Amino acid sequence: MRCIADTAPHLTAEPFPVPEYTIRGFRSRDIPAIAEIVAEALNEHYDPSLYPSLSQQWPEGFLVLADATDRPAGFLLGVSQVAGEARVLMFAVDRRHRSHGVGSRLMDAFLERSRLRGLHRVTLEVRVSNATAIRFYTRYQFSVVDLLRGYYSDGENGYQMAREVA
Ligand SMILES: CC(C)(COP(=O)(O)OP(=O)(O)OC[C@H]1O[C@@H](n2cnc3c(N)ncnc32)[C@H](O)[C@@H]1OP(=O)(O)O)[C@@H](O)C(=O)NCCC(=O)NCCS
Repeated sequence: MRCIADTAPHLTAEPFPVPEYTIRGFRSRDIPAIAEIVAEALNEHYDPSLYPSLSQQWPEGFLVLADATDRPAGFLLGVSQVAGEARVLMFAVDRRHRSHGVGSRLMDAFLERSRLRGLHRVTLEVRVSNATAIRFYTRYQFSVVDLLRGYYSDGENGYQMAREVA
């Protein structure tokens, strides 16, 4: 599974009422909204059964930030397949909800869940062209640990980034 990053330019926040958000675990009824976010933000179309199947191994690692109507505004799907490590497999926020702190709340919660699980490191992959996400991750003290040549299906290189969990 690759974390396919959006290469679209970062949108500046437009006047937008800041809604109330609730952070919670993934539910199967979230699949249509998450699939929409994935299609727009990551340009990927996965079989709907992928989401519940990926959530099974570590349900607490699949976080959803829902708006006031309980619709997902963003999500972070993390897995823990290597001993002691978490990996961010998919992370995206609905375009209309970006730059309102949704991504930060998801990342804060994910790092806390990782810490509570006793994991010591978090890794992720990002397109080298995805300056917005790289800036976000750098703000979260992730640093580049590897260049993944031709990592993405269109041939673009990726960075593997990682940080320790305090
Ligand atoms: C990367 C991504 C998940 C970040 O989500 P987000 O909800 O926009 O994240 P935040 O709002 O928490 O932070 C974004 C920026 O807005 C700023 N911000 C957050 N709340 C703010 C507020 N109330 N007022 C002003 N700025 C704010 C943050 O400081 C941050 O600054 P940065 O650009 O230096 O990182 C989002 O851009 C996205 O979905 N991108 C497309 C998919 C993608 O690339 N995913 C990663 C694949 S590896």
